[in-house]
Amino acid sequence: MSFAGRLAYLLAALPFLADFLESGRWATSPLSLAINAGLSVLILVIIALLRQARTQERRINSLRKLMNQAIIHDLKNPMTSIMGCLSCLINDSPAPAVQDRLLRIALHSCRSQMALLETLVDTTRIEQGELKARRAPLVIREVIHDILEDAKGAAAHLDVTLKESVATDVPAELNADAEFLRRILANLLHNALKYTPAGGSVSLDIRLEGDALRFSVKDTGIGISPKHVERLFDKYYRVEGSDQSTRRGSGLGLYFCRLAVEAHGGTIRVSSAADQGTTVVFDIPKAVKEDRGS
Ligand SMILES: Nc1ncnc2c1ncn2[C@@H]1O[C@H](COP(=O)(O)OP(=O)(O)OP(=O)(O)O)[C@@H](O)[C@H]1O
Ligand SMILES: [Mg+2]
Repeated sequence: MSFAGRLAYLLAALPFLADFLESGRWATSPLSLAINAGLSVLILVIIALLRQARTQERRINSLRKLMNQAIIHDLKNPMTSIMGCLSCLINDSPAPAVQDRLLRIALHSCRSQMALLETLVDTTRIEQGELKARRAPLVIREVIHDILEDAKGAAAHLDVTLKESVATDVPAELNADAEFLRRILANLLHNALKYTPAGGSVSLDIRLEGDALRFSVKDTGIGISPKHVERLFDKYYRVEGSDQSTRRGSGLGLYFCRLAVEAHGGTIRVSSAADQGTTVVFDIPKAVKEDRGS
């Protein structure tokens, strides 16, 4: 029994003990027997609850430890790659083409490190109510163009086809937080590319759905078994499994997406099946401003 359990036991038993010492009738009176039996049950319930709380606390601590390790690993990895590139540039004086490649690798590593740091900081700030969506009119096609330009290189490298379609009735502008929207889409495209084997495809579709703009990111990748779908948007949730565990991550991406979509009053959901690809759909309620254009 834990220390807290013993303490609770002792505290709950004290009145009973005092009663026992002062009165000689406790063992014979049916009322006293009933009270004593009730007290015993109460003590057992308290001990069981304390044990349960302790187990839960241990589970949370070990999960936190695991996640900290994953996050530290994800922060250290790009740093190692940046240091390798820089030391090669300084010590080996490589040919211009190799220099260019090394600089690009270092830049990519800086970006992924910055993205993880931003996600870590921002999820905490949104949780604490310090960071809110700053809605302002943004040009949808510009955001999409920038995001797809960023994803193109990774898609080509992974041999995955990247497609986009914007329905004709989609307004030119949306009143939303451009930075949030950019990072939601970047996270979803990054996941889709990460979990889609070579030869597959990833598509981004945008259309109008009632009073909202509906964004869908669809892939033909490894999919997710239904038992995980409900918890995918939980903080630090990752799918365990042979295919999944070879791809590193902190389980923060989809959690951030949920917070950022909800900050706009929107909803996000996923539909998927193992080996049949995944579709993540989120709706951002349309802004007051409804300019239509090119
Ligand atoms: N398109 C997808 N296909 C298959 N599995 C996916 C897909 N998107 C997400 N998942 C599963 O959902 C889990 C949670 O995704 P999330 O983006 O939150 O975390 P992550 O990608 O593991 O790490 P992070 O985004 O923090 O780098 C992933 O670990 C993965 O198992
Ligand atoms: Mg992710």
